[in-house]
Formats: sequence, structure tokens, C-alpha cells
Amino acid sequence: MSSTLTKLALGMMGRLRPRPVTGDAAATIALPAPEARGGMPLMEALALRRSSREFARDELPLPLLSNLLWAAWGRNRPEGGRTAPSALNAQEIDVYAALPGGAYLYDADGHALRLVAQADLRRVTGYQDFVDEAPLDLVYVADHRRMTMVPVGQRESFASVAAGAIAQNVYLFAAGNGLSTVIRAWIDRDAIAEALGPAHDQQVLLSQTVGYPAKG
Ligand SMILES: Cc1cc2nc3c(=O)[nH]c(=O)nc-3n(C[C@H](O)[C@H](O)[C@H](O)COP(=O)(O)O)c2cc1C
Repeated sequence: MSSTLTKLALGMMGRLRPRPVTGDAAATIALPAPEARGGMPLMEALALRRSSREFARDELPLPLLSNLLWAAWGRNRPEGGRTAPSALNAQEIDVYAALPGGAYLYDADGHALRLVAQADLRRVTGYQDFVDEAPLDLVYVADHRRMTMVPVGQRESFASVAAGAIAQNVYLFAAGNGLSTVIRAWIDRDAIAEALGPAHDQQVLLSQTVGYPAKG
């Protein structure tokens, strides 16, 4: 809680800053091919779905991260469809992954992570203290430039629906793989935007922490 209060104060002063990376931040992290089959039956995963806010620090192995990102927002059809819906198929959500070794954009076409910031941004992705140490904080950003077919007044709500669908994919993946997760709206959108450096018409919507459950 003291960390949360400190971060709230820093946020108010506009000084919630990233930390240095752990290790060398690779420009691209090639993800292994996702295992798009098997896993826990859907009804069992739904029965286990819940928010959890206690995480171990252990990093997620690359194959697990690969499956997670594919489940979240990967391409699941040859013509380019994805695992979550979007209004008019605008596919306006960008998923960023804040990892100890850097902040990355998930490239669904290449099924890879592309470095966007050579810094550990986890701390900046929310006020709650667990976001600093959990191994992965996802950030969902809407790119309004892809929503020109959607009436202006509906863009934010439609993008939030799409981000929510991605978040539920992550919840179900977490439930099916013994991971903890929580979607978070209590975030400093300006601090995240400054750290990620999105374009003018990209909008930070939500963040989601994922990791192994805290031990004991
Ligand atoms: C839009 C939205 C925003 C949320 N923001 C936060 C948040 O900032 N921090 C947090 O700890 N939980 C957050 N939650 C998680 C809810 O607290 C949680 O889903 C709710 O208590 C129900 O618990 P359950 O997910 O285990 O069913 C959010 C959930 C939603 C849908």
C-alpha cells in the first residue's frame, strides 16, 4: 500500500517513471509458434476465471508467453481474423507487453514482440503495488486511426469493448494455465502514454497484469 501511495503522489506530480531494464532489451523477440489446440476445456476455465492480485516474480517462459499473446489477440484465420472481435473488424487495439527486459508491441502478423521502449515500464502501468514486480503487464491501446468507419462518438466505447474481449481471452488463458491475472482501469494514462510514446490519436485504455500466483 505504501508503494501505491508513493506512486499516486508521483503520478500527481507527473513523475511516475520507468525503471532500467533487466538484461539486454532485444529489438525483436520472436515467439515460438502458438499451440492453438488442446488445453483446459472451456467450461472448466470459465469455472476458474477470477481476478487475482498476488503474483510471484518469476518470469513467464517464452512458449507460455507466446500462447498467451496468441490467445489474447492473435490471428486465428488465414484471412487475418483474430481471437477477439472488433467493430467493423477495425482491429484497432494494440497490445503492449511491459516486461522486465523492455516494453514491446505485440505484432500479430509476425507473432513477435517489437521493442518500443528500452525500459522496465511495469511500474508505470498502474498505481497498485503488484504491477511493479509481476512478470508481465499488458497495456491495451486504441488506435483511432483504424476506426475511421466508426462514428466518432462511438469509437472509445467500441474500442473498450474490443479491449474487454481481449482481456477476457487473457482471463480464460490464465485460468486454464494456472496463472493469476487482473484487468485494471486504475492507471495513469498520461504516464503510460509518455512512456510508450504512442501517436496523438492512440488512446491508452486498460492494463492487465499476468503472472504465476504468489507462492504460499
Ligand atoms: C473495466 C474494469 C476495470 C477494473 N479495474 C481494476 C483495477 O484498476 N484494479 C483492480 O485491482 N481490479 C480492477 N478490476 C477488476 C475487478 O475489481 C474485478 O473484476 C471484480 O472485483 C470482480 O472480481 P472477479 O474478476 O474475480 O470476478 C476491473 C474490472 C473491470 C471490468
